[in-house]
Amino acid sequence: MILRLVTLLDFVCLLLHTVYGAKILGVFAAPSISHQVVFQPIWKELSLRGHEVTVITPNPLNDKSLVNLTEIDVSFSYRIVTEANLQRSIEEARLYSDVVVAIYNIFINTAQEQLNHPKVQDLIKDKTKHFDLVIAEHFTPAMFAFSALYNCPLIGIISLGATLNGHDVMGNPSHPILNPDFSLPFQGQLGFFDRIYSVLYSIWYRYYYHYNFLPQQDKIAKKYFGENLPYIGDIEKNISILLTNENVLIHPVRPNVPAVVQMGNMHIQKAKPLPKDLQKELDGATHGVVYFSLGSNIKSVNLSEETREKIIGALSEIPYKVLWKWEDQSLPGQPKNVIIRRWFPQQDILGHPNTKVFVTQGGLQSIEESIFKGVPIVGIPFFADQPLNVKKMLDLGIAQAVDINTLTKENLKAAILEVAQNPKYRNKVRELAQLVTDVPMTGLEKAVWWSEYVIRHKGARHLRSPAIDLPIYQYFLLDVIGFLLAVVIVSIIIVYKIVKLSIRFVKSFFKITKQKIS
Ligand SMILES: *[C@@H]1O[C@H](CO)[C@@H](O)[C@H](O)[C@H]1NC(C)=O
Ligand SMILES: *[C@@H]1O[C@H](CO)[C@@H](O)[C@H](O)[C@H]1NC(C)=O
Ligand SMILES: *[C@@H]1O[C@H](CO)[C@@H](O)[C@H](O)[C@H]1NC(C)=O
Repeated sequence: MILRLVTLLDFVCLLLHTVYGAKILGVFAAPSISHQVVFQPIWKELSLRGHEVTVITPNPLNDKSLVNLTEIDVSFSYRIVTEANLQRSIEEARLYSDVVVAIYNIFINTAQEQLNHPKVQDLIKDKTKHFDLVIAEHFTPAMFAFSALYNCPLIGIISLGATLNGHDVMGNPSHPILNPDFSLPFQGQLGFFDRIYSVLYSIWYRYYYHYNFLPQQDKIAKKYFGENLPYIGDIEKNISILLTNENVLIHPVRPNVPAVVQMGNMHIQKAKPLPKDLQKELDGATHGVVYFSLGSNIKSVNLSEETREKIIGALSEIPYKVLWKWEDQSLPGQPKNVIIRRWFPQQDILGHPNTKVFVTQGGLQSIEESIFKGVPIVGIPFFADQPLNVKKMLDLGIAQAVDINTLTKENLKAAILEVAQNPKYRNKVRELAQLVTDVPMTGLEKAVWWSEYVIRHKGARHLRSPAIDLPIYQYFLLDVIGFLLAVVIVSIIIVYKIVKLSIRFVKSFFKITKQKIS
C-alpha cells in the first residue's frame, strides 16, 4: 500500500514536474534574425506550457502576455555583425574556408561581449539561480558553460543543418562525399575534384575548429565561468540532444543517430491578412507579382552600383509588379512597376495568389516559405548554405538560378520570365507543398517534446552514441587495417623467402648431381 502510494506520488511528481514549472535557460547568441526566428517559437511555446523560461537573445519577443518568460536583450550584438562587414568579406573571399573564418570570428566576439553584458553577468553571479535544462545555440560553444554552472542537461540547437563538428560530437556519421558540409555548394553526385575538395575541406575544418575556434571559446568561457570549468569541448560532448533545422526536401537524405533530431519549417506562421495598402497593390496586380528579397544578412542597398543597375534594368522590362525589399528611403532610377519597402510581410506576400515568382538569396527560411506557399524561385545565392539550397531547388525543378558574379540584365530577366511563365515550376512546387505538410509532428512539436523528455529523464545518456568516445584511429579502422596489412605483408615476405630458399636449394641440388655425373 505504502509502495503504491509512493509510486503514485512519484507519478504525480513526474506529472507536475513535466507539465509545470521546469526552469529552462535558452541561450541563442547569433545576432541574425534568420537564426532567431527558428528559436522564437520554441521559447514562446515552452513558456506557454508553464515552464519558467529565461532567454538570452538579440531578438526578444517583448510580449507582455508571456508571463513565464524573462528575456535578456543582447540586441547590441548586431553591432558586431555590422562592424565585421560580412558582405564585403564574402565578396572578397577566395575560398569557402575564408567565409567560415569570417563568420566564426563573429561568434567569438558575440560570446565575449554577451557574457560580459551586465545582465548576463548578474545571471551568472546569482547563486540562487537554478535551471533544469539549458538549450544553447550550437554556434557559440562558450555558452555551453551554463549547463556546467547549473549542473543540468544541455540541448544543442542549430537553425540550419548541423556543422561537421556538430555531427562529430553526437557520433553522427558525416561522409564527405555523401554528405559534404553545407558551406560547400556540392550536392548529389560529386565530380572527382569536388570529392577531393570536400575531403580536404572537412580535414581543414576540423583542424580549424579544434585547434583555433574551440580553444578561443574555451578561453572566453573560463574568463567568465572560472578556471575550474571543464574544457568546453568536453562539455560539448555531453549534449543530450542536438536539434537541427533540417528539412528532408531541402537537405540531402542522411543517417542520424537517435539523439540528432531534425525539426524543419519552424518559423512558418498561420496566414495573416496583409496591410491594406499592400493588399490593394497585390489584388490589383492581375498580371502577377514578383517578390524580390535578399533576406536579412545580405542588404540590397549594399549591392555594388553596377549589380544594382543590372537588376533594375531586368525588373523594369518584365510585365509584372515587383515588390523589392530595399533597405533605404529611395532607389536611384526606380522603375514604375517597382515598389520598395524596408520590410515586407514575406510569408503573406508569398501566400497571395498573384505572386508568381520569389527572387531570393536562397536562405533556408525563405526557401521553406516559398515551398509552403507554393511559389517558384529565382535564386541568387551569396554564401553559407545558400548556393547549396539553390542548387537543390534547381534539382527539384522549382527554380532557376543566377550567379551574382555573372548576373546580367538579360539573364536575370530571362530567369524571371521562365519561372513566371512556364507552369512546370509552379506545378512542381505545389506538389512539394503537399509533401512538407504531411508529417506526424511539426518541427515545433518535436523541439518541445524532446526538451521535456530531457527534463523528465535528466538528460538522454542512453541515447549517447558509442562513436563519441571511440579514438579516431579505431573509428577509421586504422589499427585493424594496419594489422591486416602487416599480416599480409609479412606472409608475402615469408612465402617469398621460402620460395627463394627452395629455389636455391633445388639449384644447388642440381649443381651437386651435375658435378657428380660429370
Ligand atoms: C505560467 O506558468 C504557470 C505554472 O508555472 C501556469 O500555470 C500558467 O498557465 C503559465 N502562464 C502562462 C501565461 O503561460
Ligand atoms: C559529462 O557527463 C558525465 C555523466 O553525467 C559526467 O560524469 C561528466 O563529468 C560530464 N563531463 C563534463 C565535462 O561535463
Ligand atoms: C550599406 O548601406 C547602408 C545604407 O546605404 C549604409 O549606411 C551602410 O554603411 C552600408 N554598409 C556597407 C557595409 O557598405
